[in-house]
Amino acid sequence: MNLDLAAHTLKQKLTLGAMLMVLCLPGVVSAQATTAVGTGPIHDRMREAQTRPELEKQLLSKGRRVAAVCANCHGDRGNNSSEDTPVLAGQNPNYLVEQARKYVDGRRRNMFMEGMLKALSVDETAGMAMFYAAQKAEPQPNQPAQLVEKGRAYYGKVCVACHGPDARGAAHMPRLAGQHPGYVLTSLKHFAKRDGIRSSPEMEMVVSQMSEAEMRAVAAYVASLP
Ligand code: HEC
Ligand code: HEC
Repeated sequence: MNLDLAAHTLKQKLTLGAMLMVLCLPGVVSAQATTAVGTGPIHDRMREAQTRPELEKQLLSKGRRVAAVCANCHGDRGNNSSEDTPVLAGQNPNYLVEQARKYVDGRRRNMFMEGMLKALSVDETAGMAMFYAAQKAEPQPNQPAQLVEKGRAYYGKVCVACHGPDARGAAHMPRLAGQHPGYVLTSLKHFAKRDGIRSSPEMEMVVSQMSEAEMRAVAAYVASLP
């Protein structure tokens, strides 16, 4: 074993741990949530709907109509069986809105999704996010047990700090529980390549320390969660 290399790796791991702790301090995370995620007309409408039941009903029915257009790929209520296509059922609404904005302004790249999401009005985007968030994600059973166990250990060390103990995320943090392992792996690889297809300072730092085997294990683990 090359001791220099081992020391270097350990140092990197320690630095990552320290940086993650800082990023996950509640104050830091909520400061990000209010500046980057919780503002703008779409969020205003979602907040308004929380205190106006008739508006909530109206937005949800708009969302259901939008979802009918997306159903071909994402499935009837956000559950689908394609490994390339994310499950949207049960996803956190603020995260969905933030991703919609990222596609539209180019921080996340997928020409097709950009076109679809650009075509939605403020109320349709808010309704779409509320509609999917209210659906139940179907679990992805039959993940290989050994991978799941390896993934559980890795998740508990690194991912839990932001995505939560049950992998259901938080307002601005995506739910990973029940997500397709293929889509999780592809996403992690895009963050790792820093190819501009996805961008997130937090995730770029996390994946810079991950091997492909660790990515596969953690993908199987989160997929297996209800
Ligand atoms: C032709 C298939 C297709 C259709 C139709 C489609 N999508 Fe997608 N969608 C995808 C794929 C594939 C991805 C993953 C792309 C990527 O990695 O960025 C995606 C990603 C997303 C994401 C990001 C999810 C996440 O977990 O980060 C959102 C939000 C989304 N789609 C919403 C919609 C909405 C709303 C509609 C309908 C207006 C729609 N999509 C229609 C294929 C489709
Ligand atoms: C420091 C906080 C933090 C940590 C730790 C973290 N994540 Fe994330 N993760 C995020 C944020 C923020 C996003 C949203 C990124 C974006 O906007 O594209 C995200 C997004 C993701 C996505 C994309 C979800 C989707 O629906 O497209 C996956 C997959 C993911 N993380 C997996 C992991 C895994 C696996 C780990 C542990 C190895 C991990 N994350 C650790 C903050 C974190």
